Amino acid sequence: MALFRVGILGSGKGSNMVAIAEACAAGRIPAQVVLVLSDVPDAGILQQARARGIPAEYLPPGPFRTKLDPNAEAAYVARLQAAQVDLVVLAGFMRVLKEQFLRAYPERIINIHPSLLPAFPGLEAWKQALDYGVKVTGCTVHFVDAGIDSGPIIAQETVPVLPDDTPESLHARIQAVEHKLYPRVVGALAEGRISVKGRLVIWK
Ligand code: GAR
Repeated sequence: MALFRVGILGSGKGSNMVAIAEACAAGRIPAQVVLVLSDVPDAGILQQARARGIPAEYLPPGPFRTKLDPNAEAAYVARLQAAQVDLVVLAGFMRVLKEQFLRAYPERIINIHPSLLPAFPGLEAWKQALDYGVKVTGCTVHFVDAGIDSGPIIAQETVPVLPDDTPESLHARIQAVEHKLYPRVVGALAEGRISVKGRLVIWK
């Protein structure tokens, strides 16, 4: 049977993409990363993908800071469709996706966020958690909807916040659990073990 085809979008260093690609390459999950796209020309995620032989392309995002302009969005969708991806994985992609993207991949776009949603949506969630003074935080994998970090929650993992944490040490602890959780979710989706009813995500 053909492997489940994953396209990954990211703006940063790409450690989650690496975790997913390595889980695929090792045969731990029945999927393959077929394309990596970035809105940042020199993003680490592009270099990490190319180093693993995965096609990786910079696609210009257009003039806006927090979203893709409609032409750019159409170009991202066209590229993903040409690569016949079954699932779009956002891994540190720092732009909101709009209607035409969501329509092209209904319940087929997932994101990882570095907090226990619905706490601390938005930017630098680990810093928000530290500033707020919570004792536990973590990460969330969710389906992407039209809101910001608001779609149905697929899975979450916790980490403690320690008294001497800095933003960097807390983010590193969260990332370590992200790297386990995200491949597990992609694997479960590839195996058809996840379904959605309204806001409720059911694991089989
Ligand atoms: C991850 O920690 C992810 O949770 C976060 O960006 C980082 C990307 O790291 N995403 C967001 O903050 C989205 N709102 P990576 O490039 O090493 O995978």
